[in-house]
Amino acid sequence: MNAISPRVFSGVQPTGNLHLGNYLGAIKKFVALQESQDCIYCVVDLHSITAQLVHEDLKGQIRSITAAFLAAGIDPKRHIVFNQSRVSGHAELAWIFNCVARIGWMNRMTQFKDKAGKDRENASLGLLAYPSLMAADILLYRATHVPVGDDQKQHIELTRDIAIKFNNDFSDRIAAAGLGTPIPMGEETVNGYFPLTEPMIEGPATRIMSLKDGSKKMSKSDPSDLSRINLTDDADQIARKIKKAKTDPDALPSETAGLAGRAEADNLVGIYAALAETTKAEVLTEFGGRQFSEFKPALAEPRGRKARPDQRRDAPADRRSRPYRRGLEGRRRAGRRHRREDDGRCEGDRRLPAVTRRLRGQAVAGLAIRRYVGPEGPAGEP
Ligand code: TRP
Repeated sequence: MNAISPRVFSGVQPTGNLHLGNYLGAIKKFVALQESQDCIYCVVDLHSITAQLVHEDLKGQIRSITAAFLAAGIDPKRHIVFNQSRVSGHAELAWIFNCVARIGWMNRMTQFKDKAGKDRENASLGLLAYPSLMAADILLYRATHVPVGDDQKQHIELTRDIAIKFNNDFSDRIAAAGLGTPIPMGEETVNGYFPLTEPMIEGPATRIMSLKDGSKKMSKSDPSDLSRINLTDDADQIARKIKKAKTDPDALPSETAGLAGRAEADNLVGIYAALAETTKAEVLTEFGGRQFSEFKPALAEPRGRKARPDQRRDAPADRRSRPYRRGLEGRRRAGRRHRREDDGRCEGDRRLPAVTRRLRGQAVAGLAIRRYVGPEGPAGEP
């Protein structure tokens, strides 16, 4: 039959600069998953026009997100990196899902309520239907797992609701077309076409908060640049922002329970844990009883790790990083590969060269953050 094989899909909107929250909440996970999974990573420009139809430099934004993917270590030769609007199937399936999903489901979405604010009648219809397009992104490839930040959990639940309704309503037709696969749903097993996708939201940094206010999410729209660490900040800027980050007067606790009610402390410990690829408990074993005046420099400074040769500023470009080189090599080979690999994986595959063109300069900019938070964790300056 048409068994559904495990597949990872995720998307990032090309709006505003990426920050540490995007990196730790999503992109770092994308990189880790590619070792064991079949992955598709998408720059979702159709989502970014739901709030505002025309953007200053959408093309540039799409390229810089793609550059960040490559700079963070996503390998476009082994996995698929592409631009949503290049594949018309996303908008087409979204329309079908608009006819499956109910208005009530969309009205309940907290992201819609937040973004639409008080004047909901005046929000775009696209903003309301946003989750339906997101479900289409995922289910177009029958993706089974989606690494996302905590704030997207409700949208993944809605994706499952759409899959469940579609599978249930059309079980017989799906079977008749020979397209189904048995999917257990509650007590019953139906002939489903779409998998029931799982979100992947784990780790110490599912929600990175503002450095200035531990009750607010780190956000690209916060007026204060000191509230966030941008992926393009250099080591000095990062150190300065951490130094100025809000804290409380107490020493760090020795156990995670002691972080309750201390949002800023909790956030900084979570960031440390995520970067060092450990747990908050481990971090507190090391730093419990110490003051922020000691912890902050440790967080800002590389922790005894030497820069790898390819991360040194003076390294020749061709040695700087494997993903960087792979990015360039990928561009050269993309044409060939897309002709060769015409296995129906996805339309966007063949269009990839257009998206990755002219990324060279931007991939280098993206490496600024890689030196600090690359896959190996913070690295030393030369
Ligand atoms: N809504 C997601 C966000 O704002 C972006 C997104 C669009 C996405 N389509 C997706 C994420 C599909 C995961 C899977 O972060």
